[in-house]
Amino acid sequence: MEIMEKAPAKINLGLDALYQRPDGYHELEMIMASVDLSDRITVRPLTKKTIELTTDSSFLPTDKKNHVYQAAELLMERYGVTGGVAIDIEKKIPVAAGLAGGSSDCAATLRALNQLWDLDLSLEELAKLGSEIGSDVPYCIYGNTAYVSGRGEKVEKIADIPCCYVILVKPHMSVSTQTVFKALNVKQAQHPDIAGLRKAVEAHDYQAMIEKMGNTLEDVTILKYPVIRQIKESMMKFGADVALMSGSGPTVFCLVKQEKRAQRIYNALKGFNDEVYLVRMLQCAVE
Ligand code: C5P
Repeated sequence: MEIMEKAPAKINLGLDALYQRPDGYHELEMIMASVDLSDRITVRPLTKKTIELTTDSSFLPTDKKNHVYQAAELLMERYGVTGGVAIDIEKKIPVAAGLAGGSSDCAATLRALNQLWDLDLSLEELAKLGSEIGSDVPYCIYGNTAYVSGRGEKVEKIADIPCCYVILVKPHMSVSTQTVFKALNVKQAQHPDIAGLRKAVEAHDYQAMIEKMGNTLEDVTILKYPVIRQIKESMMKFGADVALMSGSGPTVFCLVKQEKRAQRIYNALKGFNDEVYLVRMLQCAVE
């Protein structure tokens, strides 16, 4: 028996860090949405109690450092699973890019192993387990458009984002989320209006939504990598409705309503960037 789970990438339509908590993490408010750019996780039972991880990506560790490995190990230990598992990660989402690729792989592994090992855990239980591994994992258990708060563990599904095209550009460098948060000065940073953004999404008001989109981490990452600002500017110049960095970066995405314009922007960006993707939202509301 083999089980396959899709692990979609996410973008942050909004990300605000309110303050740093005594445990070192930041209290966050985010609006997240899944895009149609997915890794694929396949799990297969093994009789020997072992975790064998394989992947087509040369950027990923295949040992305990990988969140997918940690997910399997956590379920095995917590629920006394006797057998083992072979897990394969087919990678499409850029690594360390601000698109939650690793977290989504981890979440997909939890969902797949829940089935493979007949654990009968609810999505809430899987999200709680996932939060022990990484802050973005609980959102990735559910996907869709969501308001996410706390450290990342409070996930509330909201109305789907208005349908549009998404063009993603991943610059060459990889960014460490920890380093970006460390460099953030919450008091001096810009804070997007997440409540207003949520309202706009729930009202299916695309125009209001793009006006409210913002990411408090953007200035921090741009300071280190000015190329992010250049990509944003070229996206707007080529006709995007809005352009923003996702998560802690460095991936920049832009939204656009019309397919033809999306294709034009994609072609223009492809001229001077290696990693460019044109995708749709995974779930969206037709206005
Ligand atoms: O939870 P995760 O390991 O994915 O987080 C990576 C790093 O991002 C943390 O070590 C922390 O520095 C930072 N972070 C934070 N506040 C959050 C989530 C992550 O400061 N809510």
